[in-house]
Amino acid sequence: MLSNLKTVQITLSWLLAISFVIGILILPQYVFAEDLDDEDPPQDLVLKGDGKCTVCHDENSDNPILAIGKTKHETIADHRTPTCTSCHGEGSSHEDSPDRALMPERTFGKKSLNPVEERNGACLACHQGGKRMHWAGSLHANRDIACTACHQIHTEQDKVRNRITQAEVCFDCHKELRTLINRPSRHPIREGKVICSDCHNPHGSAGPSNMVRDSVNETCYSCHMEKRGPFVYNHPPVQENCAICHNPHGTTAPNLLRSRSPFLCQECHEPNTHQGSSGTLTGAYARNTLARGCANCHTQVHGSNNPQNIRNESMFQR
Ligand code: HEC
Ligand code: HEC
Ligand code: HEC
Ligand code: HEC
Ligand code: HEC
Ligand code: HEC
Ligand code: HEC
Ligand code: HEC
Ligand code: HEC
Ligand code: HEC
Repeated sequence: MLSNLKTVQITLSWLLAISFVIGILILPQYVFAEDLDDEDPPQDLVLKGDGKCTVCHDENSDNPILAIGKTKHETIADHRTPTCTSCHGEGSSHEDSPDRALMPERTFGKKSLNPVEERNGACLACHQGGKRMHWAGSLHANRDIACTACHQIHTEQDKVRNRITQAEVCFDCHKELRTLINRPSRHPIREGKVICSDCHNPHGSAGPSNMVRDSVNETCYSCHMEKRGPFVYNHPPVQENCAICHNPHGTTAPNLLRSRSPFLCQECHEPNTHQGSSGTLTGAYARNTLARGCANCHTQVHGSNNPQNIRNESMFQR
């Protein structure tokens, strides 16, 4: 009996001791776990994993940034979809900073201290190649133009990719272009029917002046197919470069011509034959031109191949 009691006592004290030890082991963990429960990981608002940032940068913050959730950068199906830190850097010092004074690793605004190349590097990490194949070495890259000088990230509408508003973004730096596209003869750029990026790839290209195609002419042909020919009689400057006679941005002379036709033509054609002699209404010099445009007679100035009138077709008259 005694021995039985003793056994119970020993067993109890063992149990006590064990539960005490277990208690020590479990209790703090339990408390710790409760601690964690109190601090649920902050919820993501628009991008996967943005919770650690949007806990502060929400819709109430001075800088509204959540509209990024309405752009392609939110495409969840795309595994490359960025989160805040893909662009701004890990920036843990920023989140944890008690005075919250530190900036994240990378900012893009006007006051950014990060070199342009580093800022662009963040974008190129995902956007290399494709239309940006010629970015390195392009004039914009060489002049330290940031991707974000043109692109807005935290707005639903990226102005530079909207056909109506695009030109405004370019005019920020290319001020003279604003005057040109308002001249009497112009491409319908204001109306958004023809836009800068129909002719230029602002990310650089293999062609001159950032042309979207390999040459000025190839770019023009993409809309003005009939000017490509082939013609039996070619006018050399037309084959060489449309921009010899035309300024595609806008001119005061009609037809986007750099100057009016007698003067334009006389830049190359000696004014010593019918092209420059004084005019009469009849006789040998009837076709005289001083007061008339050369194109009145030479109507096919881009090239001709009319099988009739063999003599004059080489004169671009038909
Ligand atoms: C504890 C709150 C807090 C957290 C968390 C936080 N920020 Fe900030 N952040 C601030 C404050 C405050 C400022 C300075 C005031 C301002 O410009 O809004 C700031 C500034 C910024 C700026 C610069 C704004 C400017 O004016 O140029 C960026 C960019 C930024 N934070 C991004 C982030 C990112 C990305 C994260 C997540 C990795 C993050 N923040 C997490 C509070 C926070
Ligand atoms: C694709 C790159 C990219 C991503 C992703 C991104 N940002 Fe930005 N962020 C920028 C750029 C670029 C700017 C500069 C202003 C602009 O162009 O809209 C900026 C500006 C800011 C600013 C300052 C606002 C201002 O007007 O200067 C804050 C704050 C900020 N971002 C926080 C965040 C937070 C939080 C997230 C995640 C929800 C985030 N960013 C995701 C690129 C990005
Ligand atoms: C982590 C990868 C990643 C980073 C970093 C990133 N992007 Fe993107 N971006 C994407 C994805 C994914 C898309 C949507 C898919 C697509 O259109 O290619 C996209 C779409 C875009 C689009 C719109 C394309 C469209 O068709 O609407 C623009 C413009 C753009 N990004 C510019 C930038 C700029 C500028 C930066 C730097 C500030 C940047 N991106 C940083 C992944 C990224
Ligand atoms: C000079 C203005 C300008 C600069 C600088 C610029 N872009 Fe663009 N970007 C545009 C325009 C205009 C479009 C729309 C026309 C087009 O698609 O070519 C565009 C379109 C895009 C697109 C969507 C179309 C596509 O190619 O998928 C992405 C992504 C993009 N840019 C990324 C970048 C990145 C990254 C940089 C920096 C290395 C950059 N851009 C610099 C003007 C610019
Ligand atoms: C932040 C300023 C800035 C913006 C915005 C900008 N550019 Fe430029 N661009 C430049 C600079 C600087 C050059 C270098 C030539 C110069 O000094 O004028 C240049 C040169 C060019 C060239 C000549 C390229 C060559 O090889 O001859 C073209 C074409 C051009 N930009 C088109 C555009 C278009 C289209 C847009 C709008 C989508 C645009 N730019 C927006 C600054 C800018
Ligand atoms: C119809 C095609 C076309 C359109 C649209 C167009 N450009 Fe051009 N751009 C050209 C051609 C061609 C050249 C080369 C001119 C030359 O060689 O004399 C050029 C040259 C330029 C240059 C180089 C400097 C200069 O003036 O020669 C800049 C900058 C430029 N364009 C900006 C723009 C901007 C900004 C827009 C939109 C407002 C725009 N372009 C619309 C065809 C176009
Ligand atoms: C994206 C298509 C497109 C491209 C590329 C293009 N054009 Fe045009 N062009 C047009 C349209 C649209 C009109 C207006 C037609 C109309 O009003 O009937 C036009 C009109 C013209 C006119 C007549 C202007 C007038 O005052 O009547 C000339 C000249 C011209 N383009 C020359 C060029 C040259 C040179 C190039 C290459 C540098 C070029 N275009 C590239 C679409 C284009
Ligand atoms: C030698 C100067 C010259 C060159 C080079 C030139 N053009 Fe013209 N272009 C003219 C003249 C002159 C007119 C006005 C014709 C008229 O009044 O009949 C004109 C008119 C036009 C027109 C509007 C009328 C029409 O015929 O549709 C277009 C579009 C045009 N040119 C496109 C081009 C393209 C594209 C190129 C390059 C392949 C080019 N031009 C090269 C002189 C030239
Ligand atoms: C940039 C220089 C240049 C300009 C500007 C120019 N031409 Fe020409 N043109 C030439 C050349 C080069 C030839 C070929 C000459 C040859 O074959 O002897 C030519 C040939 C001609 C011919 C055929 C002559 C022949 O003997 O076969 C006619 C007609 C003509 N041009 C008319 C015009 C008219 C009209 C204009 C103005 C709208 C014009 N040209 C503007 C350079 C130019
Ligand atoms: C009234 C019609 C008419 C006008 C206007 C006209 N031409 Fe001609 N041009 C002709 C004819 C016809 C020929 C064919 C040559 C001949 O039969 O003598 C010709 C021939 C030419 C030739 C070939 C070499 C020559 O001199 O015979 C050139 C170059 C030329 N024209 C350029 C011009 C230029 C430049 C202008 C404007 C300053 C112009 N033409 C205005 C009718 C005209």
